Amino acid sequence: MIEQEIILKDAVETEQVGHYLGQQLKIGDVITLSGDLGSGKTSLARGVLAELGLEEEAPSPSFALMIAYEPPEIILPVAHVDLYRLDNAADIRELGLDEFGMEGILLIEWPERLGDTLEHLWPQSLRLHFDILENNMRRLTWQAPHDWEKRWPPL
Ligand SMILES: Nc1ncnc2c1ncn2[C@@H]1O[C@H](COP(=O)(O)OP(=O)(O)OP(=O)(O)O)[C@@H](O)[C@H]1O
Ligand SMILES: [Mg+2]
Repeated sequence: MIEQEIILKDAVETEQVGHYLGQQLKIGDVITLSGDLGSGKTSLARGVLAELGLEEEAPSPSFALMIAYEPPEIILPVAHVDLYRLDNAADIRELGLDEFGMEGILLIEWPERLGDTLEHLWPQSLRLHFDILENNMRRLTWQAPHDWEKRWPPL
């Protein structure tokens, strides 16, 4: 059976999925993380970054918009991005996401802010979505393109 959703019962489980994802990543991958405020996007990104060797807990990029990590701090270059505060789509260019996406990995919270640019720039992105359930657990759903067939969902 191909699972179409995962129920994450607490923050530890959310981070564990991040760890799994971290093991699958290669240069050029783009992961989008959508869902309401506080739904678990940064928690999952923290798991990814920890798996890639980041020793301290990754801060949320809500204010910086983008926090870039490079070896040797981490084994692969990763830009952790939060576009919630992005005022207009043109500012994306200033962040340099398109260039970074070619030589590293992009983890993008609030990808909705990119509008059509997302599909245009990164048709092969893995799109993860969180919903907060009534019992406060999280439901993770996704769109996994061809490039992710053998890597997603988690075993
Ligand atoms: N599966 C889960 N079940 C219950 N709580 C969870 C789960 N996963 C994460 N959490 C908790 O929910 C909160 C999620 O916060 P987080 O910063 O990851 O959200 P976010 O989606 O990045 O929000 P924002 O849009 O503000 O950036 C944290 O308090 C975390 O401990
Ligand atoms: Mg966040």
